[in-house]
Amino acid sequence: SSLTALNTLGLKAVARHILYLTEPTQIKQWRADPLYSQTSWLVLGGGSNLVMSEYIDKTVLQVGLQGKKLLREDGGAWYVAAAGGEAWHPFVQWTLAQGWGGLENLSLIPGTVGAAPVQNIGAYGIEIKDVFEQLTAIHLQTGEQRVFTLADCQFAYRDSVFKQAEAGQWVIVEVVFRLAKNHQTKTQYGDIERELLSLNMGNTPTAVAQAVINVRQRKLPDPAQIGNAGSYFKNPIVSPAIHQAVMVAYPNAVAYALEDGQYKFAAGWLIEQAGWKGKRFGPVGMYEKQALVLVNHGEATAADVLALEKAVQADVHAMFGIILEAEPVKW
Ligand code: EPU
Repeated sequence: SSLTALNTLGLKAVARHILYLTEPTQIKQWRADPLYSQTSWLVLGGGSNLVMSEYIDKTVLQVGLQGKKLLREDGGAWYVAAAGGEAWHPFVQWTLAQGWGGLENLSLIPGTVGAAPVQNIGAYGIEIKDVFEQLTAIHLQTGEQRVFTLADCQFAYRDSVFKQAEAGQWVIVEVVFRLAKNHQTKTQYGDIERELLSLNMGNTPTAVAQAVINVRQRKLPDPAQIGNAGSYFKNPIVSPAIHQAVMVAYPNAVAYALEDGQYKFAAGWLIEQAGWKGKRFGPVGMYEKQALVLVNHGEATAADVLALEKAVQADVHAMFGIILEAEPVKW
């Protein structure tokens, strides 16, 4: 069963079994089937944050659960539920068409609704955690259904309990978003601010969505054209001492102060300075318009990706003393 079309990096990969989940009850049925129960399981969303090995001797559960609806509304907000297999971007555009703002900054992010909380997707000053109400998940082993609140999810930058203590344990079947009625669009991000001015559509949620779409289309490669998994590394968070040392040596370095006193460097800048922007390494390379994005120029395997990951990490570390952490999950 080929996974090549099911990972946005387009890596050559096959799995022992691939099961397409359209009803939550199928999980229990398949768990009871020795054909599948004797292998370990992996849960697949849109495959946009994954580095897949060439042969995965496991059962891959592809979440295809569909559906979206307004659950309820009160004076403060609309509570909108979407099934785990809904494609993220069309879902965001649907909420905007209903007149519910809040998700516009997260337009054009690849992947599914169910995968979005796993890494707390974020862009242009908004993260899932800012609009999250709760989610429902089913435990792969026990079939237990559980509601996770905001606190349960332990959201952090590109992180949640589903990448830590509970990694690989749950199928996220539904996510509920709280879209505030007094929502103010967030447009302070430089690229977005400039794009909004040139669009001249005001700064409604729909206008912001359009600005985000335009900026992303200019900077980020479309996985349908060139395989990639978005940002390949996290922006590294460092102590004030390390920040200070790097700024002394490289006064133009791009870094932001965080609320907790630490600093976040733009990994794209570090990678570009280390000479990797637009550079190839076998069949893979770092994207010419955004050095943080690793791209597959064709026929790459996980080994090619991991070799480039190591090479970039080594050069950035040698130059800045900063260790870059890869963002995608490795299968
Ligand atoms: N930069 C460079 N060279 C580059 C790329 C970036 O110098 O090749 C510097 C520039 O100074 C730029 C700054 O880095 O102003 C920030 O770049 P950008 O606005 O592209 O954002 P980013 O920090 O590289 C993060 C997210 C993106 C998200 C954008 C916008 C991470 C790991 N990535 O990228 O997420 O869209 O901010 O909010 O936090 C993704 O996860 O796939 C993704 C695209």
